[in-house]
Amino acid sequence: MRQLAKFMAFRTKILAWYEQHKRDLPWRTDKNPYTVWLSEVILQQTRVEQGMPYFNRFKERYPRIVDLAEASQDEVLKLWQGLGYYSRARNMLFTANYIQNELNGVFPTTAKELVQLKGVGEYTASAIASICFDEAVAVVDGNVYRVLSRYFGESLPINSSEGIKAFKELANSVMDKQHPGDYNQGIMEFGSLMCIPQNPDCVSCPLNRSCIAYNSNRVAELPVKLKKTKVVTKYHNYMVVLDSNERIVLEQRKGKGIWNGLYQFPLLESDVNVTQAQVEKHLKSFPYIKEYELSLFNQEAIIHKLSHRKLLAHFWIIQLNYPIEKAIPKSQLTNFAVPVLIANFLKAFKIY
Ligand code: ADE
Repeated sequence: MRQLAKFMAFRTKILAWYEQHKRDLPWRTDKNPYTVWLSEVILQQTRVEQGMPYFNRFKERYPRIVDLAEASQDEVLKLWQGLGYYSRARNMLFTANYIQNELNGVFPTTAKELVQLKGVGEYTASAIASICFDEAVAVVDGNVYRVLSRYFGESLPINSSEGIKAFKELANSVMDKQHPGDYNQGIMEFGSLMCIPQNPDCVSCPLNRSCIAYNSNRVAELPVKLKKTKVVTKYHNYMVVLDSNERIVLEQRKGKGIWNGLYQFPLLESDVNVTQAQVEKHLKSFPYIKEYELSLFNQEAIIHKLSHRKLLAHFWIIQLNYPIEKAIPKSQLTNFAVPVLIANFLKAFKIY
């Protein structure tokens, strides 16, 4: 088949498939750019089933962009707790304020303007522009890479600069410019329901007759991704300081890391495992710690995997026999946004 005809057959089939199989998702009820933005930010790095309850809670708590703009960072991070990649939430709050205060509450309408917003990358800008404002710009997410690389037999690595450029061009050439919003959602939906990463049901696929990967037995090999990021192991020793009134010390993480703004116990981070003696030495630097009883909550490290880190966590219980001012009553701990690693400890420690 000639290339143009093949492009046309592809977009027609994607649109027809989407019309028949699209899920009834809460952000598909209208073309409100605020809620589409929220859903697309949540769905980056998060599967639909996992993201849906978060979307619903956010929409209920902040029905309009002005409501989000008025929220505190602590509250937004608390609602985001468990989704990971917390900069997404911090950037949304920043951008809600920017749109509300600098753009008079009016959402930009073109991909070119949208991509200027903090936290809005090319993917999100294209999704909002196409779904809400009918602009013919193709989205390229993990689903799109997979569907296009298999159907068109494109084996350039999806995380190489050459590959990124080629897939973007291909995505824009094959897209349906008359129905950009439905087409973009259709190809993503097709990737998340039919052309799935492992063991897709190619025999029942409506696109299998002209799918190059299927017809050359290369479905499992495509898309190609270069292994790049090296996962670094870090040891996290958390100091769970309990005072005589059963209050606990929490600190807010500052700086640049992914958990910036979340709360945690004072942390001793190291590249190798630490001994009890090293923990005791570290405790000498705490102005509010004098006498204490020290015990290790978990002998075996709790493993917490992040995209770029493997954390081996130990929780040290430091029981004081006097009260300290900065500690927080146990009953209030649930109000603080904490990394899932800490939330799991609080559950195991019978605080949640
Ligand atoms: N994944 C991310 N955004 C999506 C959307 N709008 N439809 C289907 N899957 C998606």
